Amino acid sequence: MAASLGVIILPLLTVLPCSYASSSSMISTGSTLLVEEYKQKFLTSPSADFSCGFYEVGGNAFSFSIWFTNAMEKTVVWSANPNAPVNGRGSKVSLNQDGNLVLTDVNGTVTWDSKTSSGKGTTAALLNTGNLVIKDSNGAILWESFSSPTDTLLPFQPLTKATRLVSGYYSLYFDNDNVLRLMYDGPDVSSIYWPSGDYNVWQNGRTNYNSSRIAVLDAEGYFLSSDGLNVKSSDWGTVIKRRLTIDYDGNLRMYSLNASSGSWITSWQAIAKTCDIHGLCGRNGICQFLPNFHCSCPPGYEMTDLKNWNKGCRPNFSRSCNNTEEFEFIKLPDTDFYGFDVSFNQSVTLKECKKICLDSCSCSTITYKEGSALCYTKSVLFNGYTSPNFPGDNYIKLPKNMGISASLVSTKSALTCNQGIPEIILGSASLLHGEDRTAPCNLPSTKGTTSLSTTCLTM
Ligand SMILES: *[C@@H]1O[C@H](CO)[C@@H](O)[C@H](O)[C@H]1NC(C)=O
Ligand SMILES: *[C@@H]1O[C@H](CO)[C@@H](O)[C@H](O)[C@H]1NC(C)=O
Ligand SMILES: *[C@@H]1O[C@H](CO)[C@@H](O)[C@H](O)[C@H]1NC(C)=O
Ligand SMILES: *[C@@H]1O[C@H](CO)[C@@H](O)[C@H](O)[C@H]1NC(C)=O
Ligand SMILES: *[C@@H]1O[C@H](CO)[C@@H](O)[C@H](O)[C@H]1NC(C)=O
Ligand SMILES: *[C@@H]1O[C@H](CO)[C@@H](O)[C@H](O)[C@H]1NC(C)=O
Repeated sequence: MAASLGVIILPLLTVLPCSYASSSSMISTGSTLLVEEYKQKFLTSPSADFSCGFYEVGGNAFSFSIWFTNAMEKTVVWSANPNAPVNGRGSKVSLNQDGNLVLTDVNGTVTWDSKTSSGKGTTAALLNTGNLVIKDSNGAILWESFSSPTDTLLPFQPLTKATRLVSGYYSLYFDNDNVLRLMYDGPDVSSIYWPSGDYNVWQNGRTNYNSSRIAVLDAEGYFLSSDGLNVKSSDWGTVIKRRLTIDYDGNLRMYSLNASSGSWITSWQAIAKTCDIHGLCGRNGICQFLPNFHCSCPPGYEMTDLKNWNKGCRPNFSRSCNNTEEFEFIKLPDTDFYGFDVSFNQSVTLKECKKICLDSCSCSTITYKEGSALCYTKSVLFNGYTSPNFPGDNYIKLPKNMGISASLVSTKSALTCNQGIPEIILGSASLLHGEDRTAPCNLPSTKGTTSLSTTCLTM
């Protein structure tokens, strides 16, 4: 009897030192969280608003994360390993005897660590603000999650010159001229889309004189930045659970938690018109509201990767430059490809504008503004969008032998996609796929309430 009792008690004893973590806001050196026990063992802030531990991001894939305890989908606000999930078996987080908080994958690989080394007496605690802090035995803070944000800022978590919010190809950061900006940094090109490049810093209500480069959201819904940005959420003035997140679609949004339903309400967003976000439809792609956001390819082009609009469209023809007579122009009404102009001419006719493009081998399209007789030639087709508000038309340069009838496509039907492109419903991406994700403009379903759909145009 005594022998078998020992066999039963021993495993219990080895588990005990950690098991209190399920109800604790703090762990000390020697503590370990095992991924298999993610449902029972995690840190909880004293107020219970935030939790920290292993978070399942997909089948058998986990991140070490902080999330809102009471949000319906346990919305993640920070991850140690957002693009490198660990295995659901054998992975662990330990605050080791050196005082280093270490996330180890099943094969022993260190996926992430806090790089702290204050030895015994080190603690890791989850604060009521949602900040995970590592302190030495004297209580001095050595590391905090607030200083290494992923895609979300919480109230009182400053964005500084040293930090940025990142989601896929999109980031929010302080630029070299002290202005807070949103940038698309894709495989082909990088471009800034907020504040609008159509206006200067001052016209955008910003300043570049203040070099402190700090932006903070408060609990009442104000988001203030040292460059003069001064944003109020639609429900400002009340202290509720809030977050500021750069979503997978490149928009920056403020959210408020509806405490009774656990769902998020969008209380502010940086970009009102989704097509103003760069890169969403990829190279050569065209963005349009109908009224939801849609991507399509211009005539003569086809989708590069049927599962991923970020990869845009590729020409279904080969370019040769030795015979200008081979080309024709297909009109895309109310359409422009923002930026990347090769040349700009004033007071020219449409015919002269086309001639300028025909004479230039690198020219692949022109944007012409009838009223002001402005002609822009472009080589790279990026940030394409169609909007009735755009005071011009685009004329895409195609080889004549493609058999695309100008009369047929000179209406909006020019933007019809290839048949058979599957409808991509945003909202299913997980953190799992990282750079390889198949639908990068997707919003993770755990974030926000915005629902976008990417479909072919069938008008
Ligand atoms: C451990 O697994 C990770 C993820 O699967 C992998 O990237 C890494 O190369 C592996 N390391 C070793 C030592 O096998
Ligand atoms: C610069 O911005 C900081 C943070 O917003 C603010 O406290 C400070 O007063 C600003 N300085 C000037 C000269 O406006
Ligand atoms: C919050 O959720 C409750 C319950 O679902 C709902 O009745 C209420 O309208 C929501 N409040 C807001 C501001 O959306
Ligand atoms: C691409 O070109 C091929 C051959 O010229 C043609 O069969 C096909 O329909 C074209 N696709 C598109 C989208 O134009
Ligand atoms: C010129 O055009 C011909 C016929 O279109 C093509 O075969 C040839 O490769 C082109 N030469 C160059 C230098 O592009
Ligand atoms: C267009 O502008 C360029 C300079 O940007 C000039 O060299 C060229 O002659 C102009 N072409 C026409 C047709 O006005």
